[in-house]
Amino acid sequence: MASFNSYIVFGVLVVMANGAVMARDVDPIKANNCETKMTLHCVNEVFTSIFKTGIVTDNCCIELIGLGKFCHDALIKKTLENPLFKNNDTSVILSRGAQVWNKCTLVSKDVSPSPSPY
Ligand SMILES: *[C@@H]1O[C@H](CO)[C@@H](O)[C@H](O)[C@H]1NC(C)=O
Repeated sequence: MASFNSYIVFGVLVVMANGAVMARDVDPIKANNCETKMTLHCVNEVFTSIFKTGIVTDNCCIELIGLGKFCHDALIKKTLENPLFKNNDTSVILSRGAQVWNKCTLVSKDVSPSPSPY
């Protein structure tokens, strides 16, 4: 009977440990390959225009739209978690992020009326 009980305890511990590992591994940025879909140059442009000042060029806007809104938002939130940006006002940053996204949506509509080549 004692060994039966300890088997159950062991099983519960294993399940809990797996749950903890999974929770840690579910990083939406990694899960969606957000970090591999834009060139570093454009990541910098978008980052600078949201957290500092600057503009996003048309080419980088198209990359940003290709990245997708989900990744755009996830990357902004991830950056806000960085201690370097703890002084930034989350609502200001989120609204700037939305502005950049909206501007880029327009740019990408203007620039790509032709069917994509692939
Ligand atoms: C974010 O914080 C940095 C450092 O405190 C500051 O220089 C920058 O202007 C802030 N950006 C915005 C959009 O408020």
